[in-house]
Amino acid sequence: MTDTDPRFSRILHDHDEIENAAKRIGAQIDHDYAGKTPILVVVLKGAVMWAGDLFKNISIDVEMDFIDIASYHGGIKSTNAITLRTDLTSDVRGHDIILVEDIVDTGLSLQYLISLLTDRGAKSVKTATMLNKQQGHKVAVKADYIGFEISNEFVAGYGLDYQEIWRNLPFIGVVNPEVYS
Ligand code: PRP
Ligand code: MN
Ligand code: MG
Repeated sequence: MTDTDPRFSRILHDHDEIENAAKRIGAQIDHDYAGKTPILVVVLKGAVMWAGDLFKNISIDVEMDFIDIASYHGGIKSTNAITLRTDLTSDVRGHDIILVEDIVDTGLSLQYLISLLTDRGAKSVKTATMLNKQQGHKVAVKADYIGFEISNEFVAGYGLDYQEIWRNLPFIGVVNPEVYS
């Protein structure tokens, strides 16, 4: 299907591979948080599909909350200006937090979220990201659980958008540069 899809130069990971990554990380979280009840904070909007897979593969008791921030504003590059669009409903003070992200690219979103939650008195803040783009990092942040390492290319699908579309695609693909050049 996607071999002939002109929107993508290649497919990186399909649904099955992503589910396997969610199983692996879910088991790690069960082990690392045994006896605790962390709050999983889903970073909207990109993390929605990955969060669904991850939640299904965690067996310990967890709470769920959502925060909506934006840095890309639909484009292909981070704008460095992070907007908090919708805040959490939980008080994170004294709680173990696991941020659920679709991708860590420059790391600016993660840096913003970690300092926000730390300032609010979270007991611990860790991150479970579907994708880590190490070459994109501009700040020294490190995700604790990583589904896949990816190269320095613009990707979309499985929650990640290009101009707010293609989040619904059941795979992660490298966007054909002809699309945005
Ligand atoms: C994307 C992605 C991450 C963040 C990563 O979100 O979903 O949250 O950027 O980039 P960074 O490491 O360079 O900060 P975006 O701001 O596009 O909002 P969205 O999730 O609503 O698409
Ligand atoms: Mn996002
Ligand atoms: Mg986006």
